[in-house]
Amino acid sequence: MQFLATAAFGLEGVVAGELRRLGYTATAVNGGACFEGGFEDAMRANLYLRTADRVQLIVGSFEATSFEALFEGVAALPWEQYLTRESRFPVSGNCARSQLMSVSDCQSITKKAIVKRLQEHHRVTWFPETGETVPISVTLHANQARLTIDTSGTALNRRGYRTWNGEAPLRETLAAALVDLSPWRQNTPLYDPFCGTGTLLIEAAFKMSHRAPGLTRNFAMEQFPYVKKTVLDRIREEARSAFDPSLIHDIAGSDIDPEAIRLAKRHIDQAGLNGRIQVSVQDMHTCTRPEDSGLFLCNPPYGERLSDRKACESLYHDLGVMFRRHPGWSLCAISSHPQFERCFGRRVAKKRRFYNGRIECEFMTFTKAK
Ligand SMILES: C[S@@+](CC[C@H](N)C(=O)[O-])C[C@H]1O[C@@H](n2cnc3c(N)ncnc32)[C@H](O)[C@@H]1O
Repeated sequence: MQFLATAAFGLEGVVAGELRRLGYTATAVNGGACFEGGFEDAMRANLYLRTADRVQLIVGSFEATSFEALFEGVAALPWEQYLTRESRFPVSGNCARSQLMSVSDCQSITKKAIVKRLQEHHRVTWFPETGETVPISVTLHANQARLTIDTSGTALNRRGYRTWNGEAPLRETLAAALVDLSPWRQNTPLYDPFCGTGTLLIEAAFKMSHRAPGLTRNFAMEQFPYVKKTVLDRIREEARSAFDPSLIHDIAGSDIDPEAIRLAKRHIDQAGLNGRIQVSVQDMHTCTRPEDSGLFLCNPPYGERLSDRKACESLYHDLGVMFRRHPGWSLCAISSHPQFERCFGRRVAKKRRFYNGRIECEFMTFTKAK
């Protein structure tokens, strides 16, 4: 079977890299990364992928420039392999750069075509949809229809530890990608001077302790009748025994806002990392780290959502001053502010473009001030 691990724009290659590290042959494609395997592999991907949004089983894809072609193409796919007489199968949709651009029409045509296929196969006319939920999705991109079954359910960024959002929190999957793309190799301290509710710190600690991000949540595929529960339980048990919080060291952060730190502590606790990450209320201006080297990894205010641009420019200038007080340290920051580098007062060594929600940002690495 072929699966698509969907990813936010710009993270496709990062997800493909993660899949390769898990042992799969993966290809980055528009919207994510593809890999082959069985339901066991989908379960592993759901449990372990840090930067993907969902894991979808690709049921089929074909060209569709008319509603008739869409109907025929969907009805030709082997839905009876995945849907029982009782299955509930909501259809979601997405259309881009295609002749068929009405999402609601594509959804209802897909639903009708699946019902027709199942009626012929199961020899019944009515489906009560009272059984397990098998979420289906139809995507039209450049006139190619792709039909998938969502094995994840709730999006994978919902790890379960973040139940209260602070102001402008980073999505967990993006935070994990930033940890991955930063030069941090786990042998030096990691410090976030704008830690907010602690997302970057928690994702870094998950990585350091081999904590599967999906360890304590469920996935849609666990309800599918043709997926063996004992096999899934074994895979989850493997993930549980790999998690070793004692491996976490030197991950800390601070924020000027006491309410953000209160939430960060709560999230750290809910992530099962109590006592493993140190967070405190502190103004970045007074931040002084005792270690000779390390990495500052941060998501400072951009001036779009939290305060005005001018205030951010002066904050970035002062961040540069703080950075130069730590000559053995490197710094990575994500910001949408076009003047970050100028205000920070140092030439960026590396940068990469991402979207933080709808905001176009750059993730910048400044290497050691020394
Ligand atoms: C974009 S938010 C960070 C969100 C965080 N990554 C998360 O996932 O929750 C920026 C944070 O910078 C903090 N901040 C603003 N000025 C600060 C300063 N001078 N010193 C320390 N923190 C500051 C804000 O309180 C806010 O929590």
